[in-house]
Amino acid sequence: MKILNLKKMNYICNCKKENFFDKNYTYWEDRKVTNDELNIINFLIKSNNFKYKSILHIGIGNSYFANNFYKDSKITGITISQKEIDKAKSYNLSNYDFFLCDKYSKEFNIFTNKNKFDLIVDNNLKSYSCCQESFEFMMDGIIESMNDKGMLITSINGMKWFKKLKPKFSFTLKKLFHFKLKEINGNELNILTINELKDLSKKHNLKIFFDNKLCYLVK
Ligand SMILES: C[S@@+](CC[C@H](N)C(=O)[O-])C[C@H]1O[C@@H](n2cnc3c(N)ncnc32)[C@H](O)[C@@H]1O
Repeated sequence: MKILNLKKMNYICNCKKENFFDKNYTYWEDRKVTNDELNIINFLIKSNNFKYKSILHIGIGNSYFANNFYKDSKITGITISQKEIDKAKSYNLSNYDFFLCDKYSKEFNIFTNKNKFDLIVDNNLKSYSCCQESFEFMMDGIIESMNDKGMLITSINGMKWFKKLKPKFSFTLKKLFHFKLKEINGNELNILTINELKDLSKKHNLKIFFDNKLCYLVK
């Protein structure tokens, strides 16, 4: 699999964008894995026959997910934070590739058109999108990259996020002067409703399932 190494992304829309790739931004690498992702991990661990040989993890955070599954699966992860990449590297896990990429970009769409996965994990599918057009473009791409019987899994709580990230220059005693991605509230239209996900699953001919706090689509 060819891993991208890009400093600037291109988009299908004309929305004004921050460039997250020009500095070593810190974001989630030292924060605790979210409960939303923990629910997904527990669900996968409990599933009777874990059969996902290739996994795409969108939003690697502190790489807790990869640490749980790298022995059984080949994991490819993406993030928009260079410090999350550095953290991922520090684990030196076999079967774990990761790269900087905006999931709403044309480059990510090319990547998903060229690669196939048994499982795609993203607990904040829509939260960070700039517009509906880019969100649907990203969804078309990841659904295209699902293998037959492949699964896309997300968190119902994570669907309610509508955060936006703003680059900031900051200071803390631990990190001294550093660049960080600060979360601010974004567009409420980025709350992904169950109905919207149902419509997407219909459009792409996928089966949709709900399990307590999770939602998953199967090809
Ligand atoms: C709130 S953190 C959650 C991290 C981890 N998934 C968890 O649940 O603990 C959101 C993650 O999504 C990633 N992310 C945010 N916007 C993104 C985008 N446009 N493209 C790719 N990754 C993105 C961040 O870098 C971060 O890894």
